[in-house]
Amino acid sequence: MFSKVNIDIIDKLRSIAGDEYVLTDSDSLEGFSRDETEDLEFLPEVVVKPYGSCQVSEILKLASERKIPVTPRGGGTGLSGGALPVFGGICLSMSRFNKILEIDERNFQAVCEPGVITQVFQEELEKRGLFYPPDPASRGSCYLGGNLAECSGGPRAVKYGVTKDYVLGLEVVLPTGEIINTGARVLKNVTGYNLTQLIIGSEGTLGVITKIFFRLISLPKFRKVLLAAFKTLEDATDATTAIFQGGVVPSAIEFMEKSAVKAAEARQNKKFPNSDAEAHLLIEIDGNSSEQIDSDINRVAEILESFNVHDAVLAEDEGKVADVWSLRRGIGEAVKSISAYKEEDTVVPRANMTQLVKGVKKISEKYGITSICYGHAGDGNIHVNILKDKLDDISWEQNLDKAIREIFELTVSLGGTISGEHGIGYSQKNYLPIAISDAEINLMRKIKKVFDPSGILNPGKIFPD
Ligand code: LAC
Ligand code: ZN
Repeated sequence: MFSKVNIDIIDKLRSIAGDEYVLTDSDSLEGFSRDETEDLEFLPEVVVKPYGSCQVSEILKLASERKIPVTPRGGGTGLSGGALPVFGGICLSMSRFNKILEIDERNFQAVCEPGVITQVFQEELEKRGLFYPPDPASRGSCYLGGNLAECSGGPRAVKYGVTKDYVLGLEVVLPTGEIINTGARVLKNVTGYNLTQLIIGSEGTLGVITKIFFRLISLPKFRKVLLAAFKTLEDATDATTAIFQGGVVPSAIEFMEKSAVKAAEARQNKKFPNSDAEAHLLIEIDGNSSEQIDSDINRVAEILESFNVHDAVLAEDEGKVADVWSLRRGIGEAVKSISAYKEEDTVVPRANMTQLVKGVKKISEKYGITSICYGHAGDGNIHVNILKDKLDDISWEQNLDKAIREIFELTVSLGGTISGEHGIGYSQKNYLPIAISDAEINLMRKIKKVFDPSGILNPGKIFPD
């Protein structure tokens, strides 16, 4: 179906992007063959590092004409294989698009290229008292463009929303080479279809983002974190619902079961105050009034009294708050290092989380697999990690798919869906029909065809085989 990258194509890519930005040596190809998704590996045939929308346009036109697959790539931190070149072809690295072009303090807006690292952007804004809340665990190395492609969320989504809530417009190069500008630098916009939001979360399959227009908010002045240790998993998940019902909206409320906490402790050589507790909630309250924060913390403490809590420890100074967050952010990497694993990104209506977590434990038991649950309890977004651990190869091969299907079916039956923030990408595509109907999948296929008639942009993603 696709053509191979031959010397003629390489020459053309060199004349578009410049010799030094077209890589074909095996070390470079290998460096772009993986992301953070399990142990998947697909070699591109060539890596190109263009700069400017015109170069991207020429590359995509060439690829469309010659039927060469193109896989856009950001920081390579994805968890669904979205940046993997599953059919080889061109890896389009956006690493040179690394400039913050404008921070408009009067309008609370910013313009960025997609290769800016999320944390770098956030720190530049913080210096000016501005805030861009989406903060995936990988914020130290992921790119804003990748965050848009997967519509990343992270812990603060519970109060502040996800990536899509901060994007006003985009410059995008279509697979056919046209350069379009979607949206406008305004807070309200009902001018035609919302192409901005169609592109966000489309996992690099509809176009290549070359510029992003963000809206920002002001940075809350204070934050405090309460780390509560619970005697059972249900106590932690039910307490989450109770906190909201009690009138408090935390800026983050993260769930961690014991094995997740233990994995992070071992990896980082640090200790949680009550790491033998069955589950933890990390409850962060932020705002501009420290009295209000204290009153919210007291209210949370009062609510927690109705649950089986071992202890709740308050982190008030920035150093302690940062320590707790570094353990939490390190869980994904820590769990991954235990054994072969598969990470799921289930999300249910918040009050159904207890049923989800209990159901996951039952399914894991049935198949003899280990599961470790953690994630963004405030959003009902639980990362279910399924580990091979000591299971023999045959049972792992035979049971993994069945267990995942059952977990996803349970998630959907609870009113949820199969990805909250990691995307479908390559690793979840065959489960898509569990969550959405054939009619919807067909409509999405048609949309894909309109944007990308030759099917060259990030093929092998989202749609089931
Ligand atoms: C986290 C990533 C895995 O929440 O989404 O740590
Ligand atoms: Zn997450």
